Amino acid sequence: MLNKQQSDEYTTMLDTDSIAGNVTTLLPGERGLNVPLPSGTHYFNYYWLRDADPLSIDPATRERVFDIAEVAGGPRASSARLDGDSLIINWATEEHESRLPLATLDAFILEGRTPDPAAIPRRLWYADSHDHFPRFRQADIESSDAVRYDFSRALIEDGVALVTEMENSDESLTRLANQLGQVTPTTDGYYFDVRLEIAPTNLAYTAKALEFHTDLPSEDEAPGIQFLHCRENSVVGGYSLFLDGAAAAEALREEDPAAFDLLAQHDIPFFRRHDGWDYRAHQRVIELDRDGQVSGLTISQHLQDAIDLPQSLLDDYYPAFCRFLSILREERFVNRFRLEAGSCIVFDNHRVVHGREAFEASSGKRHLRGCYVSRGSVRSTCRVLSRSAGRG
Ligand SMILES: [Fe+2]
Repeated sequence: MLNKQQSDEYTTMLDTDSIAGNVTTLLPGERGLNVPLPSGTHYFNYYWLRDADPLSIDPATRERVFDIAEVAGGPRASSARLDGDSLIINWATEEHESRLPLATLDAFILEGRTPDPAAIPRRLWYADSHDHFPRFRQADIESSDAVRYDFSRALIEDGVALVTEMENSDESLTRLANQLGQVTPTTDGYYFDVRLEIAPTNLAYTAKALEFHTDLPSEDEAPGIQFLHCRENSVVGGYSLFLDGAAAAEALREEDPAAFDLLAQHDIPFFRRHDGWDYRAHQRVIELDRDGQVSGLTISQHLQDAIDLPQSLLDDYYPAFCRFLSILREERFVNRFRLEAGSCIVFDNHRVVHGREAFEASSGKRHLRGCYVSRGSVRSTCRVLSRSAGRG
């Protein structure tokens, strides 16, 4: 939206006298143009307009092949006009005419950024949601783009989905993960197996309870979307515990805004050390997106290092942190259920906090095979399928 300073500085205005037929001549400003659009008249900077020229994008690679820095003195229009559904600009600084669809400009103004079919608002969930987790059969995801779209959408909207009737093989998990993207490696390689080990390097590989956590906060880029394919589960106990961390964080914001701000503004350290590795990274307990909405959490007390914030800040930070840990354990958020063999729970590792109750090691067998793909690959899949599958 044009502000007064821009209006005075650039003195760009619509020349209403020169409207002829379907063509409207615009008076070029010093550094940009006022463009009448269906949503109103809006100011656009010349650099932005020049970069927005569709001819800047190579049709084969679909990458930008124009270097704005090569326009000596910066782009400036010699003339501009609206012609039908396009804005046409002739540039004083080069032999070139740009033709920009007005619909593209208007969509950008309305959303404040390039419209994104994967920008789907999160749907917060609470206790007793397990029966309502979006469910998909593996065969349906693999055979239908529409179902695959719904699967990717669920992981953006709800941050969790259950895939049923999974084939009992190693390849089955790979096939499912590849419906969304490429498997991304971590300390443990491309895949990990959660089962009892004689010399465990992780609490997950014991029969003990696993406190609420998000995975691998000690890595610079903690894994995005996690898959846990339940291959076998005949033990007594070992119930899964899942909650929506975004819902819990929003509750903290509502009930104690100062505590929320502390957890959303300061990074704390995490580690993962053993004989052959020593990972360390700082993370924010509450992660916000560009709109200030809670997009995720990082929680893992068993991988949390000595907090290196100023000690005087800890006088407030630690009580805020403990308050949030208590909220995470409240019944109103926690879902407790048994993962059944043949199912795979898929969830946003930055949003969904998970844990496990202890189980009786000698009572049977429990084997989960896991891997990760990036959050970005899920959004990419969602965008592509929103076009090709006619969804979204
Ligand atoms: Fe985990």
